[in-house]
Parts: sequence; C-alpha cells; structure tokens
Amino acid sequence: MKRRDFLKLTGMSVLSLATPRTLLAMGDTTGGSLDPRDPGGFVNPLNRPGHHGGLLGYLDPHGAFTIRAMKTSAPVLPGKTSDLLVYGVTDGCKSYVNPILTVRKGERLSPTLKNELSADTIIHWHGLIVDSKNDGIPTDAIGAGDSYRYDFTVANRGGTYWYHPHPYELTSAQAYLGLASFFIVEDEDELRLRHALDLEPGHTDIPLVIQDKRFDAMGNVVYDPSENEWFMGFLGDTILANLTVKPYLDVATRIYRFRLLNGSNSRIYRLAFVSPEGAVPFSLIGTDGGLLDRPWTVKELFLAPGERADILLDLSDFRVGDSLFLKSLPFDPMDNEQMGNGMAPEPSMGLANGEEFYVMKLNVKRRAWSYARIPRTLSVVEPVNASGAMMRQLTLAQAAPGVMKWAINGETFDPARISFEVERGSVEVWEIMNEMTGMPHPMHIHGFQFRVLDRQGSPQQTAALAVDGGRLPSDLGWKDTILTWPGETVRVAIDFSVPYPGPQQYVFHCHNLEHEDMGMMVNYRVV
Ligand code: C2O
Ligand code: CU
Ligand code: CU
Repeated sequence: MKRRDFLKLTGMSVLSLATPRTLLAMGDTTGGSLDPRDPGGFVNPLNRPGHHGGLLGYLDPHGAFTIRAMKTSAPVLPGKTSDLLVYGVTDGCKSYVNPILTVRKGERLSPTLKNELSADTIIHWHGLIVDSKNDGIPTDAIGAGDSYRYDFTVANRGGTYWYHPHPYELTSAQAYLGLASFFIVEDEDELRLRHALDLEPGHTDIPLVIQDKRFDAMGNVVYDPSENEWFMGFLGDTILANLTVKPYLDVATRIYRFRLLNGSNSRIYRLAFVSPEGAVPFSLIGTDGGLLDRPWTVKELFLAPGERADILLDLSDFRVGDSLFLKSLPFDPMDNEQMGNGMAPEPSMGLANGEEFYVMKLNVKRRAWSYARIPRTLSVVEPVNASGAMMRQLTLAQAAPGVMKWAINGETFDPARISFEVERGSVEVWEIMNEMTGMPHPMHIHGFQFRVLDRQGSPQQTAALAVDGGRLPSDLGWKDTILTWPGETVRVAIDFSVPYPGPQQYVFHCHNLEHEDMGMMVNYRVV
C-alpha cells in the first residue's frame, strides 16, 4: 500500500497546512499564541502520567494483554479535537491511551497487537534486546484486522525505552499521527535511585515525549510531506510535550527527574533549562540504555529522533514565584555541511530545524524541604571489549546525485535483501561515517545496545560539548540511537552475543522517519 492511500484510508485530512499565521489567528481566539517562539501562552497543564489509565497512564501489564492500534479523536489544541492513531489498552475498568508500560527486568511479557487500523502495522519495542520474532521488524507487519502475539522476557537494564509502529514505508505517518509511548524497565539500580531521591512516578519522575506537529484549521494533524520533505525530513511548527501544546508544570523546590524522549519524526532538539538569570545546569543520569555510572552536570544536550535522556533538575535554590523554561536553543543542523548535494535548504514556512523555541514552562509553586542529594554513583556501565573486533564501515550519503533519498553503503531498503551478516557471539566495531555533503542522521540499531568509542570530524557546536575522545556526556552510557552530523565519523562497539537459537534478522536505519521510509535502512542478520 502506498503512503497516500494509507492517509486516505485513515480519513485524515492531509491537504491544508497550518502556517504560523493561522496558528497565531487560532491563538488569538484561545487566549494565547501557539507559536513556540513566543514565551507567552504556556497555560495548558502538562499531561502527566497517572495510575488510573487515560493518556500516557502507567500500566504494569503482567503477562498477557492486548494492545489495539486504533483511531481515536482527542483534544490536543484548545477548543478542538484531533483525529489521532493511538495504542489502546483496557484493563478491567481502566482504559489507556498510549500507556506507559512499566516492567521489571527479567519479567516475561506476552502482549498481543490487534491491528484496528486500515493499513499494515507492527509494534517495534525500541531499544529492547529481544529475538527477531519479538522485535517488530518491517517484514513482520500484519494486515488490517490481524493480530500479532509477542512473547519475550525483558533482558534490558533499567531505563527508558519506547514503542512505536514499524511497517514498511508507513512508519513515519503512523508515528506522526500519534502511535508512540514509553516502555520503562525497572531494576535494582533504578529503584535505589528512586528511593534515594524520593522520586514519585508521574509527580517528580516524569516521562516527557517531545514532538513537533502540523495542524490544520480544524485541529487535525497534517502529515503530507513534499518531495523535498521526504528528503530533508518533515517538521511541524507546533511543539507538544506529552501531547500538550504550550504546557506548564507546577513544581516545588526539590529535585525532579525528566525522562526525555525525542518522539519527533525529524526535528533535533538542543535542550536547556533557562531562567531569567540564565542557563540552569542539570544532571544527565541516563541515556538510551539506562543509567550512566555517574551523573554529569551539563547545561544543554542534543536529542535526536529516537534518543532518550534521563535527567535530574534541582530546583532547591529557586523561590516560590520563580519560573523557568525548558527550551530548544538555536543551532545549525548543517554546520560542516558542504552543500554538495545541490540542495538548498527549503525556505522554511514554519519552524526550521535548529530554530530557537520554548518547550515547557516550569512554575515554582511550593516550598519543599528535601535534603536528598544526587548520588555520586548510579550504576555500572560495562565496556564492550573491542580489542580484535572486526571493523565494519557504514557510509551515510545521498543515494546518487540528483536522487532525493539517503543510502547506507550505497543501498536503499529492499525488504528482501540482507545487506550483511554478523557472526553470533562476535564483537564488531561499526564506523558510521556521515559524508560532509549530507545532513544529520540519527542512526539506530535493532536488537542490541552499543557503546560509543569516539567521534571524529564533529562540527564545532558538538565538539564544544565533548568530554572524552570527542564523545559527549550523552555518549557515555548504553545507546541504541546515535546522532551523526555532516562530516562526522562515530565508532561504536557492539557485542553480538545472542541466546536465541537460529539466525536473527534485524534492521539498522536512520531514525529520521522520513529518511527511514524512503529507504535509509538495511536488514542485517546475526548467524
Ligand atoms: Cu525506533 Cu527501528 O526504530
Ligand atoms: Cu528500534
Ligand atoms: Cu537520516
């Protein structure tokens, strides 16, 4: 099925485009601008996960349960309802929309996906270490009305993972229209941290998915990339956190944890907290694959599509009445880029990638008396022993001059082709080389977590944040998605030990979802 037919079948409006002008007009009628560049109008309470179902409710599933991929409509913009695609789960009298699954390491889960969409779909558990039958690869997508039963044991470290659709050529549209949520794994280190800091999920430990979307005048989500947007990525001009537009969060003078997920199709965020006095430092405590060995104090971090950052923000020194913003600082996505692909960046009609804007406002409302200190050690992050490892080069470049697709080692995705095989039990070093004449690509591997060895040729804005071997603090933990800038080479070490019998098939792809659906993906096999 072609993307366009899918969009028709879902009944989504794809024709009208929300320009900043219409957004401002809408803002005028609802008492505040929806333009994220405007610090005013942050008047909508953030959707926080709760324990009684609802949107992003915490669900502790235990064993077998059913997840429906379905259409719904929900209020996203003030005074309007948006048609969305969501994951729905019913548990007794509670019903969940995009539930945050919370499970313990070692627990066995048997979710059944029921496809109530009018197109193929499959759930991929992003970051989970599972065999290929449970991974949700594009070739396992099921048709409308069909079901897919997963059955796996959670082998990952405690951490913030997520789940989203992965059907061939339809991932970007389905994720954009709403299908995505968190998968949180708990282990001993995780519980120790939570106890030490008295963190309460949904109150002081808050999963926060940041997304950009376009809306039409009716309030429906618009997904209709032009040819150039399939090539460069589709950007929205409205920024949502947990599907809340212009959100605020009332906070107390204590430590907060945010589990940040970039759930956008192609927008990169350069996140920072800013108060009227300037940047507010925060602690990076975890990456894609769970806790770091120790906290790193930072003032900003880049978060690319698919990546997670687990952070602590200490508000102890603030006063009641203060406020601060989580914002995205300006950056140049094409820093280093040599413009060799002959493409001029499209004059942006909305919010350009790298433009500065506000994500969420924090209002300090209450005094809290907490003497908790951030622990000096959090966990043990084992290295991957890469001595004698086989080296594999993966070059990211335009498919061919004049072809508006990106390729990995010159190949674009063919579901029937296995691009390479990896020996079970071996360690490989992947040298991911992004050509100078390119754009940023967040590269993601299924089936494994890896360690970053080094970065070379980084643009100045990234090199300035490096702490060790060109690596950023966010490179120091376990990763499954790694942002590579134009001209940059990132080396990662992967241990391909798998306990499952038989060959395992996975994909490696760009998590810019337009790039992925246009073929910036390869199948590989562990044999
Ligand atoms: Cu989150 Cu294959 O993707
Ligand atoms: Cu994944
Ligand atoms: Cu890409």
